[in-house]
Amino acid sequence: MTASPRIAVIGGTGFYQFFDSDTERIEVDTPFGAPSAPITVGEVDGVSVAFVPRHGPHHEYLPHTVPYRANLWALRSVGVDKIFAPCAVGSLTPQLGPGALVVPDQLVDRTSGRPQTFFDTGAVHVGFADPYSPILRDALLEAAQPDGGAVDGGTMVVVEGPRFSTRAESRWFAAQGWTLVNMTGHPEAVLARELEMGYAALALVTDLDAGLETGSGVRASDVYAVFERSLEVMKSVVRRVVSHAADLGVCEASLGEHDVTDLLGLPAVLR
Ligand code: ADE
Repeated sequence: MTASPRIAVIGGTGFYQFFDSDTERIEVDTPFGAPSAPITVGEVDGVSVAFVPRHGPHHEYLPHTVPYRANLWALRSVGVDKIFAPCAVGSLTPQLGPGALVVPDQLVDRTSGRPQTFFDTGAVHVGFADPYSPILRDALLEAAQPDGGAVDGGTMVVVEGPRFSTRAESRWFAAQGWTLVNMTGHPEAVLARELEMGYAALALVTDLDAGLETGSGVRASDVYAVFERSLEVMKSVVRRVVSHAADLGVCEASLGEHDVTDLLGLPAVLR
């Protein structure tokens, strides 16, 4: 049996499986229902890694129906404390065209109505000023070097979807100085923080969002096509980062005086 994984990858659009062979499937039930798929656990260069496809193995879940809480809870319950999260994004700036890889450093939440916390009682307010783990971000930037590198930083605005943005919305996002637009980055990042797991996103630009696009606007088929073309590069960066991630520290999440173990009945974070 594979060792208990401390590192996880949550695959995004087009990224539905990670291991070629020898994987263990773990069916986890959580207080929030089943995750998007059973967790698969395999080894990358001797490092035990857990994988879950965010949208399900056959893209069953749209961004607003992804069981985010179940996914994060399930990963935490098998021992994960570091998450790498590949995702597809639209670009809000002409400097970033399709195929560019970006490691964002900020997030703006424009979703609505998604459950975004594990806590219903108690004065629990996690710190979220820096939504991504600086340690995991640096590891991703380094891992991307042999594949042409990734852009360091950028603000990702997360919209509710599943529709794409109007031109006016898109121009407004760009006017705020935001660089990327996506539909799944929230509440995933904050739920990881609540469970004291380090989290970093690896964004692949699949399209120019409507404010930049002069044609008919963003089409889902273009997003999928670009993702498919870039999938091998994305997987190569992710493989490299997880194979070096075993010794990385965990981002210190701020739960104030509260302890997630007591509040949620989960095993203590391994350090
Ligand atoms: N994911 C990929 N491209 C996107 C876009 N233009 N808007 C929102 N989410 C996206």
